Amino acid sequence: MIQENISLKPFNTFGVDASARYFAEVNSVEELIEIFKLSNSQTLPLLFIGGGSNILLTKDFEGLAIRLNLKGISEEIIDENQVLVTAKAGENWHQFVMFCLEKNYGGLENLSLIPGNVGTSPMQNIGAYGTEIKDIFESCKVLNLETLEIEIFDLKKCRFGYRDSIFKQEGKGKYVILEVTFKLTRENHKIDVEYGAIKSELENLGIFNPTIQDVSKAVINIRQSKLPDPKVTGNAGSFFKNPTIPSTQFEALKQKFENIPGYPNGEFVKVPAGWLIEQSGWKGKQIGNVASHKLQALVIINATGNATGKEIFDFSTMIIDSVNEKYGIELEREVNII
Ligand code: EPU
Repeated sequence: MIQENISLKPFNTFGVDASARYFAEVNSVEELIEIFKLSNSQTLPLLFIGGGSNILLTKDFEGLAIRLNLKGISEEIIDENQVLVTAKAGENWHQFVMFCLEKNYGGLENLSLIPGNVGTSPMQNIGAYGTEIKDIFESCKVLNLETLEIEIFDLKKCRFGYRDSIFKQEGKGKYVILEVTFKLTRENHKIDVEYGAIKSELENLGIFNPTIQDVSKAVINIRQSKLPDPKVTGNAGSFFKNPTIPSTQFEALKQKFENIPGYPNGEFVKVPAGWLIEQSGWKGKQIGNVASHKLQALVIINATGNATGKEIFDFSTMIIDSVNEKYGIELEREVNII
């Protein structure tokens, strides 16, 4: 069941060739508990791998990497307009979204084509085009690694924020997410096309009264037009978070850089990191095996397929330094550095 010296290249979307000293794939909660007890008895560090779409392996992992392969989707109709749909952690996110759209269940359409698995979606409250999973999240079932008991986390307990949750904060390393339940609509869908790019893509398609399936199609077209497909070019989506700065700092920057975009949020302003990176001269730039994507500067790519995690990490540090030097804003990595 446990294999030794396994390359993790197929299990991270950057396509970085780092290896794990030990590796196991688990297909059930029972198997997971068994493997966990074994690793505990040998005090091995653990790395849980889902879709591998948000990790950067900067070196070989000298512990036990566990790939969660729990599968299955179930539904529970609440009333004529609502349904609870539960997917196990190892289900591929986009396939799950497509499953729901085929059944005409609404709520996930704006989140089409996001790489990764269902089990990691609550970790960073994945979001795109005006929707975050917190908007349709009902609960998740987790394994508490201290007690080995199964617990249910509701919306409040997950403490979702922008690309953030309890699982990235005080719960880090304490829980394994086993399954996630979403509350979706069966009719009277809430169509959200406020995000500018969706509106214009639907117009391009000649659609003025979109269904949830149309919204999904528009999102897929937008993503495919500017985000690299990890199956072709290694990447982990946005490498940094969009920084939030105090309004006063934003106003001062506006004096100097009059075109700086910003989205006000109370006393703060969110600034698109892609803009800061592009304006600092990094868009499309390649150093060795690593580059910033030519159509979306926020995405760092394994340009040759041969990049090491260390090279990608060093490239990201150079970006942080030059944005900081020019704008006095320190970008924070969104990707988990291992
Ligand atoms: N921009 C540039 N140059 C670039 C890229 C972006 O100037 O090279 C500026 C433009 O002004 C643009 C603005 O940034 O209007 C926003 O760009 P975009 O709509 O592409 O979105 P983003 O803020 O860069 C975020 C998420 C994405 C998500 C999109 C769409 C984060 C860190 N990223 O990107 O999520 O798909 O919005 O909602 O919040 C991911 O997390 O991996 C991810 C892809």
